[in-house]
Amino acid sequence: MITLENICVSFKSEHQKKWFETTRTQVLFDINLSIPKGSCIGILGESGSGKSTLGRVLCGLLKPDSGTITLDGVPIYGSKQGRKLLQQKLSVVFQDYTTSANPRFSIQEVLLEGIRARQRKGEPVKDLAAELSGLLSLVGLDDSFLSRFPHELSGGQLQRVCIARAVACQPEVILFDEAISSLDAHTQVQIMDLLQELKEKLSLTYLFITHDLTSITYLCDEVLFLYHGRITDHRPVCTLHQTTDAYAKKLLQSILI
Ligand SMILES: Nc1ncnc2c1ncn2[C@@H]1O[C@H](COP(=O)(O)OP(=O)(O)OP(=O)(O)O)[C@@H](O)[C@H]1O
Ligand SMILES: [Mg+2]
Repeated sequence: MITLENICVSFKSEHQKKWFETTRTQVLFDINLSIPKGSCIGILGESGSGKSTLGRVLCGLLKPDSGTITLDGVPIYGSKQGRKLLQQKLSVVFQDYTTSANPRFSIQEVLLEGIRARQRKGEPVKDLAAELSGLLSLVGLDDSFLSRFPHELSGGQLQRVCIARAVACQPEVILFDEAISSLDAHTQVQIMDLLQELKEKLSLTYLFITHDLTSITYLCDEVLFLYHGRITDHRPVCTLHQTTDAYAKKLLQSILI
């Protein structure tokens, strides 16, 4: 469904030797990846390895220097149709749920952002109250949350709201960038169970960016290791113990100890 071919990304270096020379630092090197419909792929790597950069390329926020990325065969950069398709089919949930929900918005208004995105696709919303209530119950919250504000919710509750907003526009793919990393271990498990349930119920495809191997083994069926901007291993989670990747081995050992 989504295909990345030879994706390279570089950024302008901050420290230039001479003012008239523009030096660039390459962050992603020749990334090739195929994301089939219904899969759940975990993208794992240490801080600075390029995970979020890859995420931004995937969700249309950062045009790569070279390479192509297609969604259902349509290139997402350089074609209006691709952009539109991406908006329709992909949602994102970020780590920082406290800033990704506008603090001045009530939960109802936060959810409306997602619903409006769906209306822009030309899909009418018949009963708004029922829609809002349905979204909240989908993520295990009740109607009493609608009039509350983000600061009145716990981290786990607010992240549930952000997931409901992502689901509201009826995407086919959801990209999670460290979406559960700042929650406590118990809440992380609750949210992962919720994500698993939603995936089945709504036939979703997940891309799950994290530096936590345990959450990948819990949720994903494939894992991809990113090291200094390169994919060093990509395999089914069930064969993780056979990895030849040094970073992956180190992570596995730290978990087994
Ligand atoms: N807009 C930018 N301009 C310049 N450099 C950038 C930019 N965005 C990212 N980088 C650099 O690219 C590299 C990869 O960053 P990225 O955010 O993708 O890492 P990450 O794997 O998501 O790390 P973390 O686990 O800490 O979130 C880093 O060295 C970072 O400093
Ligand atoms: Mg990141």
